[in-house]
Amino acid sequence: MPKVKILDSKVGYNLLADYYASKEKYWNSFEKDKVLPMLGDLKDKKVLDVGAGTGRLALRIAHAGAQVTVLDVSREMLKKVQITNYKLQIIIGDVENLPFADESFDAVIATFLIVHLKDLRKFFDEAYRVLKTGGLFLVTNINQRKAPAIKTKDGLVEIESFYHRPEAVVKLLEELAFSVEKNEFVREGENWVNQIVLAKK
Ligand SMILES: C[S@@+](CC[C@H](N)C(=O)[O-])C[C@H]1O[C@@H](n2cnc3c(N)ncnc32)[C@H](O)[C@@H]1O
Repeated sequence: MPKVKILDSKVGYNLLADYYASKEKYWNSFEKDKVLPMLGDLKDKKVLDVGAGTGRLALRIAHAGAQVTVLDVSREMLKKVQITNYKLQIIIGDVENLPFADESFDAVIATFLIVHLKDLRKFFDEAYRVLKTGGLFLVTNINQRKAPAIKTKDGLVEIESFYHRPEAVVKLLEELAFSVEKNEFVREGENWVNQIVLAKK
């Protein structure tokens, strides 16, 4: 068996930014266009997309009329964000220590992010802090028990990942004073492939 190198998110996504950007249709298939409608009217809303990567969803949110801030730990992923038509604020940072004042945003979204966080508490607390009262927090949770090994010029790599049980995600949000408004599952055959949770502060 060839050896697989396990990389943290910053190093891993800096290396795999081209690969991630090339598979946008595949990532979209885990959402089946459910994310944006769950956020309601986005016109003039202040939205923070954390772990935003290449801006796959941020651009659609901006297109719907929101002012969007994207934050990610990987500079190479953020370099792929296309800012030609929309004004997006782009910030390199860590979701566990958000560089924003309390109550700054109408919505915070985190798609395919929590799979890379071992403990969600710090991040959820930060999302709560930066949301305005009544603000929305949308989180997706991919059903991935084993991270895929990806071939690179330097050999096989895996980005450090953690499985989160859907019930545990909801329970923690409620423990931290969010009210969980929606908890939907995208399914393929018998199996769920992605959980989409909408919570309110
Ligand atoms: C699977 S990608 C998802 C990108 C985008 N949200 C999407 O749905 O296409 C995960 C992203 O989370 C970022 N990330 C992981 N841990 C992070 C952290 N602690 N702080 C900020 N970004 C992080 C990675 O750099 C990567 O760009």
